[in-house]
This record gives sequence, C-alpha cells and structure tokens, in this order.
Amino acid sequence: MTKARILVLISGGGSNLQTLIDASRQPDCAYEIVHVISNRPEAYGLSRAEQAHIPARCLDHKAFKDRSSFDAALAQMIDEVRPDLIVYAGFMRIMGADFVSRYEGRMINIHPSLLPNFPGLHTHARALEAGVTIHGCTVHWVTAGVDEGAIIGQAAVPILPGDTPDDLAARVLVQEHRLYPACVQAVASGRAKLVDCRTWLDGRPGGLALLG
Ligand code: GAR
Repeated sequence: MTKARILVLISGGGSNLQTLIDASRQPDCAYEIVHVISNRPEAYGLSRAEQAHIPARCLDHKAFKDRSSFDAALAQMIDEVRPDLIVYAGFMRIMGADFVSRYEGRMINIHPSLLPNFPGLHTHARALEAGVTIHGCTVHWVTAGVDEGAIIGQAAVPILPGDTPDDLAARVLVQEHRLYPACVQAVASGRAKLVDCRTWLDGRPGGLALLG
C-alpha cells in the first residue's frame, strides 16, 4: 500500500501532531508524516517532530512584510515537499484566498468546537457563556471562510456543572486526540472526500461522529 504523504502545519505545543505521529506508526495506517512546518520558532511541536525523526522547519511569519509574502513562501516550501494532504494541527494563521484555493480539497483543520457553533478563538469560554450543555471538536476541510469548510468529523463532550474554560479545553483535547487520527486516516485512505462542498464518506454524503 502506498501511504499518503502528509505535511503538518503547527503553531504551538503539537499534542495533536503527536497523536498523528503515534497513529502513523501503526502498520495499517494510510499515511506517513513527511514534514512539519511551524510559523512560530518556539513551538514545542518542532521538538516532537525532531524526536520522531521527521524533517521540521520554522517559517516565522514575523519575518515577512505582509500576509501575502508569508503565504507565498509557505506555498513554496509546501510545494517542495509535494504532500498529498496538508494537516493544520493547532496552526493559528488565517491564510489568504490564493493559498487556500491552491490546496482546496487537500487541506484539513481541527477546531475546538462543534462547528458551526463558535468559530474563531476562545471557543471554550464562549461555549460556557452561551450555556450550551454539549461541546466538542470538529475536523473540516479548509476553505476561504474561517472555520467554515465542510465537516469531516465531530466528537462531543458534556459540559459539567462548575466547568472552567480550562476544564473544558482538557476534556475536548482528549477527544481531539481520538478524532484527528481517525479523520486523517479516512481522508488519506480515500474513504472521505470533498465532493461539491460536502464530505462524502464511503460513497455517501456524511462524516465521522464520535460520541462519549
Ligand atoms: C487544539 O485545541 C486545536 O483544536 C486548536 O489549537 C489547539 C492546539 O493544540 N486549534 C485551533 O484553535 C485552530 N483554530 P496542540 O498544539 O496541542 O495540538
């Protein structure tokens, strides 16, 4: 079996990157992580990649005069690697429309809420403030609209009395670590595809749902 070549984009701690690395070591895994790029030099995820002997580089966005020159440099780096799939794992940059359309259908993200609720930042505090009783995370295709692309999979957690944003973040992160490897495997193996702005799983419109 030829494995899909995955490039992972990070900005921080890289715990999701770590779960993808761990899953990629299973014999039936449909992907291999061929490269990691961070837009922040201090991102601990770079050390995780190095420890796993995966080539890792930093492209510091602060070194660029504007957004489009950073986007162009990142696209050049990505194209040198020739990945089949680009995986945002805590990559905290909003990329321009040219960049996004260049990789549309080959780029996915994990977001810490049940989209379309709570796109953007501070999702856990906003969920508590809104009084919802179920929260979670979403894996979706990256499109030009922030956190708007078709959903590949979601995992849900309860909100418990007295929860703080940190409590909730920790509970959601456990589910992120289950959901992301499952979704990347579904895309890399060809089970999940983007068709006319909808995800198709196993030949039908739909996605993965992890409950509890
Ligand atoms: C994760 O919770 C991820 O969902 C979130 O950043 C965290 C990264 O953690 N991503 C976003 O908020 C993207 N909008 P990690 O670096 O430990 O994987």
